[in-house]
Amino acid sequence: GLPARVRIHEVGARDGLQNEKSTVPTEVKAEFVRRLADAGLTTIEATSFVHPKWVPQLADAEQLFPQISDLPVDLPVLVPNERGLDRALALGAGRVAVFASATESFAKANLNRTVDEALAMFEPVVARAKSQQVHVRGYLSMCFGDPWEGAVPIPQVVRVCRALLDMGCDELSLGDTIGVATPGHVRALLTDLDVPVEKVGVHFHDTYGQALANTLAALQYGVTTVDASAGGLGGCPYAKSATGNLATEDLVWMLQGLGIDTGVDLGRLVATSVWMAEQLGRPSPSRTVRALSHQ
Ligand code: HMG
Ligand code: MG
Repeated sequence: GLPARVRIHEVGARDGLQNEKSTVPTEVKAEFVRRLADAGLTTIEATSFVHPKWVPQLADAEQLFPQISDLPVDLPVLVPNERGLDRALALGAGRVAVFASATESFAKANLNRTVDEALAMFEPVVARAKSQQVHVRGYLSMCFGDPWEGAVPIPQVVRVCRALLDMGCDELSLGDTIGVATPGHVRALLTDLDVPVEKVGVHFHDTYGQALANTLAALQYGVTTVDASAGGLGGCPYAKSATGNLATEDLVWMLQGLGIDTGVDLGRLVATSVWMAEQLGRPSPSRTVRALSHQ
């Protein structure tokens, strides 16, 4: 069977924008988040408290967060280390996310650490966040394939998932960072994971057009948290060949058709992505945005 309701974890303002070459003004980002909230999204990943040289687009996190923090929605932020956590807590963030890698190549490229060094870096972050009742998401990248290492063995993924949960993460997000997964692989990983399904979210990039099919496979498995990016914005600066995430509009269209409740107003969301596409100067890659607008 399929779930009656799905929680969409909107990542457009973070994953969507982090790879954008031209600097998006802070006011535009704030307006984007406000419009997403107005469209009915309730979990809106806002920004990252990472090193500004590593992700220059999100260097304005201190300026952005206070402009949106009064919205009646959850606004998780990425924090790689204690320095990032300090910055997020100083602004009153109530939800943070650490981000691990299932592969050594990406751990090095994205965090300048081995897989285990990165886990050691996250441990005090998670412990301190939990001691302050801050919710912690544990992302895991390269759960299916890696641009340097190819197909990623499932036991390697399961090991890092286990470590993230053992250190106290409240939920996991399984990332197909470069969008190479197919539904059978999704089912195989979920089968071997041995984690309560309420704690598992899925994070598909749409490079090969598989994100919706992969999402359906995860829903059939009982997953009810799905990451998506408004308009299909995005890509990871430290993973070549990563395109945008599953577009939130494409996801909402499928879920509506399946009678699954999301609380999202699709018309308002499409209008938001059309507006954002104008700000960025190119049309949205989302098929649903294009079908429902005159782009
Ligand atoms: P490093 O160079 O090893 O840093 O980078 P370090 O720990 O050696 O520190 C060097 C200096 O940076 C120090 O300053 C620190 O204070 C400062 P100094 O003492 O030399 O003056 N520093 C910071 N400043 C501000 N904020 C901070 C911070 N941390 C250190 N948080 C580091 C290590 C983790 C910092 C770096 O690699 C980094 O910032 N990486 C972030 C990369 C990133 O954001 N990638 C994209 C997100 S992941 C993703 O997109 C995948 C996902 O979507 C899921 C999927 O699709 O798979 C989540
Ligand atoms: Mg991502």
